[in-house]
Amino acid sequence: MAREIPIKFVVNGREYEMAVSPNVTLVDFIRNELGLTGSKKGCGQGECGSCTVLMDGEAVNACLILAPQIHGKSVTTIEGLANRDEEHPLQTSFVEHSASQCGFCTPGMILSAKALLNTTTEPNELEVRRAISGNLCRCSGYKKITEAILAAAAQEQR
Ligand code: FES
Ligand code: FES
Repeated sequence: MAREIPIKFVVNGREYEMAVSPNVTLVDFIRNELGLTGSKKGCGQGECGSCTVLMDGEAVNACLILAPQIHGKSVTTIEGLANRDEEHPLQTSFVEHSASQCGFCTPGMILSAKALLNTTTEPNELEVRRAISGNLCRCSGYKKITEAILAAAAQEQR
C-alpha cells in the first residue's frame, strides 16, 4: 500500500491536518473520509460535473484531483455553501424555479454557478450557460437552471 501523505487543508471553513493516500481522488476523499456526500460521483472521468467543488473559489472536478493536491488550499462543498441555517440564494432560487428534479447534478451546478458569481456579479445568459457547460443534467433541463442562476445573481445585487 502506498505511503500516506500528511497534508493541511480547509474544507467548508474547518481546518484539517491529516494523512491521505496519494492515489485517492478528492471526490472519494471528501465523500468517504470526510463524510460530505453532497458532492456526487457520476462518471469519475471529468465528463459530467456532478463532483464539482470550489478550490480556492474556482470550480473544479473533484474526480480529476488527487486528495494530496488540496494541501494548503481551501475547498467548499455544497454543505459549506449555506450560511449556518440560511440557504444560499442560489439554493433558494433553484427551489423556486424548479431547477432540480432528481437532484444528482444540483450540487455541482450550484457550485459552478457560485464560481461564476465569485467573479461576475451581473452575468448574462451566455455567461451562465458557459459556466455550467461542464455540468450535465439529465432531467430538469438547462432553461430552468439558467433562469435560477440569473435570478440568484439579480437577488444578490439587491
Ligand atoms: Fe467528476 Fe463526473 S464524477 S466529472
Ligand atoms: Fe436530475 Fe439534473 S436534476 S440530473
